[in-house]
Amino acid sequence: MRILIVGARGMLGSDLIAHLPGGQQVIGTDIDDFDITNQEETLQALVEIKPLWVINAAAYTQVDRCEEEREQAFQVNTGGVKNLALACKEIRAKLLHVSTDYVFDGKTKKPYREGDAPNPLSVYGQSKAEGESALQNILDDFIIVRTGGLYGKGGNNFVNTIVQMAQERDELTVVNDQWVSPTYTVDLSKAIGTLVKLSPQGIFHVVNSDHCTWYECACTILEHIGSTSTVIPISSEDYNRPAARPAFGVLDCGRFTEVTKTTMRPWEEALREYLDLR
Ligand SMILES: NC(=O)c1ccc[n+]([C@@H]2O[C@H](COP(=O)([O-])OP(=O)(O)OC[C@H]3O[C@@H](n4cnc5c(N)ncnc54)[C@H](OP(=O)(O)O)[C@@H]3O)[C@@H](O)[C@H]2O)c1
Repeated sequence: MRILIVGARGMLGSDLIAHLPGGQQVIGTDIDDFDITNQEETLQALVEIKPLWVINAAAYTQVDRCEEEREQAFQVNTGGVKNLALACKEIRAKLLHVSTDYVFDGKTKKPYREGDAPNPLSVYGQSKAEGESALQNILDDFIIVRTGGLYGKGGNNFVNTIVQMAQERDELTVVNDQWVSPTYTVDLSKAIGTLVKLSPQGIFHVVNSDHCTWYECACTILEHIGSTSTVIPISSEDYNRPAARPAFGVLDCGRFTEVTKTTMRPWEEALREYLDLR
């Protein structure tokens, strides 16, 4: 089985290349190979590569910058997904597309289920939600994996930032009113491999289990690496950023567990393993 990973140089994409189960031909491409915002280029690439599965890990992921670069965000996160879906339809490939908890507003205290209504707060969230809709209007046979709080060795992320800041400062301030399930890209890659193998249809929420605030996550990181720096909890209001984030960005993975008969391990266990392997 030939699987094409689009966005293979990114944080998730690089772990997908490394951690999809063996026994299949995995090909990775990124923007230098073809730009998903170009419909013709995208179709031509897929016609040439002839994958059975396309996994889309490409996106415009700079959440704050999306507020200013609205057009680019929609071009990649909506237009790019549409182009991939059209190309997949043409060559009869299956598409697994990666989306985000930022499609929700986070104004609840109950983990989101797949059928809950999106209500994004940011341009990034809107562009990702519209990408999901565009894909669903084109393809019947698709998988959308919504995830959140990603970290892995191949990218800029919260965990790497905290480790770095702990080396440079005695005091760190971190928001304590945003709940997430920090998710290791290696665990997510393996879960995506399982979904591709089983080939179910529709939307799946996939994150490491349990949840915490970013402040609690930062405390765990500092404790694990033996840092003497202090973490001070602050509110999102105090940490004023261009894009609003969902306060409760926690996803219910019940459908994933039911279909795959596997459970994502707790975020803390995955995080400690990641920190040990760094
Ligand atoms: N990071 C998170 O916390 C998080 C949370 C929830 C969901 N997600 C979703 O998970 C997926 C992977 O995220 P990530 O953090 O691994 O992203 P990433 O590290 O930013 O990687 C995205 C990759 O896509 C490439 N790309 C951008 N525009 C492209 C285009 N027009 N054509 C082809 N390739 C293009 C990027 O290339 P350049 O670097 O050259 O631009 C980059 O290699 C995304 O769908 C994201 O929305 C991420």
